[in-house]
Amino acid sequence: MAGPVGGGRGGPAVTGGGEIPVSPTASPAAGGPSAPESGMTGATVTLRIFKGVPGGELGYATYEVPEVVGMVVLDAVHWVQRNLDTELACRWNCKAAKCGSCSAEVNGHPVLMCKTRIDTLRRGPITVQPLRSFPLIKDLVTDVSRNYEINKMIPPFTAAPDDGTPWRIAQMDVDRLYEHRRCIECFLCQDVCHVNRGHDLSARFFGPRFFVRVASLEMHPKDVLDRRDLVRDLGGLGYCNITKCCTDVCPEHIHITDNSIIPLKERVADRHWDPVRWLGRKLRGTSPPPEAP
Ligand code: SF4
Ligand code: SF4
Ligand code: FES
Repeated sequence: MAGPVGGGRGGPAVTGGGEIPVSPTASPAAGGPSAPESGMTGATVTLRIFKGVPGGELGYATYEVPEVVGMVVLDAVHWVQRNLDTELACRWNCKAAKCGSCSAEVNGHPVLMCKTRIDTLRRGPITVQPLRSFPLIKDLVTDVSRNYEINKMIPPFTAAPDDGTPWRIAQMDVDRLYEHRRCIECFLCQDVCHVNRGHDLSARFFGPRFFVRVASLEMHPKDVLDRRDLVRDLGGLGYCNITKCCTDVCPEHIHITDNSIIPLKERVADRHWDPVRWLGRKLRGTSPPPEAP
């Protein structure tokens, strides 16, 4: 019955788990099943939801949920929590695709549960499982704290000392930065990236979300630090082979590879390998901008 733990970087390998019976103490929720909701279609949705904690029994529990018009996967999971299994753990906050908390894998695809309508999925049982590149905490909840550790390694925006001149930034630069600022830190890109999934490079690879952040800082016309060596050496930018899987799953439609990773790779190449720039610096007697500490 129990499935193995250990997908990606210690995340759950959830494809082989067996069927888990729902505990009688968890079903139904106190107060009995909810009253019928308006907008019910009369159809039933079958959910297979991953359950378990590390070191315990791991597998899938199956639930039948009455379908409601416009229902999203998070609605169905909440219905299960309310009516069938109060012990089921999932993380969410806004239900508006803005907090980035409800990330999970639905039918194998990394998505926001609150943005994934049931009627857009193929007919048949819907499998819901936690992000597999992160260590499992319980059921659909994983430990994404490593991302916050990576974030601390990246020096924040640093402007030149204020000389009293008003900042003027071209609209083109504003637009470019705004795309990066749309990130909601859902970490779906971190989850899908094959460098994270297939290798234990946790200490040597920032991952796509943080390439977006570094690009945003590097492209800011008022930032004075140079993070190119940091992202190359500590961030492992070279491990990315531009498969674009991260771009495909981004719910904010950030062009992670085209507008963050490739420009960063170009900047790193310019700094280290462009002979014309090197010669120019030599002739002018200038040095590259200060490196990030
Ligand atoms: S493009 Fe690079 S960062 Fe994005 S998923 Fe592929 S290897 Fe990972
Ligand atoms: S870049 Fe996109 S997929 Fe990655 S964390 Fe930000 S919003 Fe999520
Ligand atoms: S609950 Fe906030 S993004 Fe889904």
